Amino acid sequence: MKKVLITAGPTYEAIDPVRFIGNRSSGKMGYALAKAFLNEGCELVLVSGPVNLELSHTNLKLIRVESALEMENAVFVYKDWYDVGIMAAAVADFRPANVADEKIKKQDDRTEMTIRLVKNPDILAGLGQIKKEHQFLVGFALETENEEQNALKKLQKKSCDAILLNSLRTKGAGFNSNTNEITLYRADGFKRHFPLNNKEAIAREIAAFLLG
Ligand code: CTP
Repeated sequence: MKKVLITAGPTYEAIDPVRFIGNRSSGKMGYALAKAFLNEGCELVLVSGPVNLELSHTNLKLIRVESALEMENAVFVYKDWYDVGIMAAAVADFRPANVADEKIKKQDDRTEMTIRLVKNPDILAGLGQIKKEHQFLVGFALETENEEQNALKKLQKKSCDAILLNSLRTKGAGFNSNTNEITLYRADGFKRHFPLNNKEAIAREIAAFLLG
């Protein structure tokens, strides 16, 4: 039984008890991938940021987290466990340096405010650095220009075995829609295009390909 580790959804980085900084991400692609691997008979750990999605299965352990640091902690528990790792989460690159204990008041005399941000850890790159022989690590890339070149650069920089490039140029493809168009680039130079389709169907094709 193949062991699969997936991250999905956004991360929320708290500013104060009621506010956060986050990415727009529905989590649909990550959840669709999780479902597809479960249907292929895999054992699955899904580490999910805040999303409006449900998934349950006897072979699924769903860990819900909020911030990038929480996601990193949850993922690293499984760093040696997985055979296939897919980082589909839209992790916030930065988090507020300080989280206010109380709700920040707007203060009527203030017309500007600054929030100092510090870099979050790169979960995918962290896993890439300690990858074992039996593990196949996959990242996502979302590019708006020089798509292929930037995706390949990301693949190398984060020591992945493959990178899935989301085509933003195609109408209907992307983070909030139900459809997607993806190109997979493998570190050995192999390339495979998955044409525009609903996320469930694309996820099934990707799962079958990665397990095949
Ligand atoms: N990722 C991650 N941890 C982060 C940031 C990104 O694990 N802190 C993962 C994402 O899950 C995805 C891949 O890295 O699989 C690509 O993320 P992306 O945001 O496109 O790449 P960046 O390195 O942030 O590059 P840039 O924003 O400059 O394009």
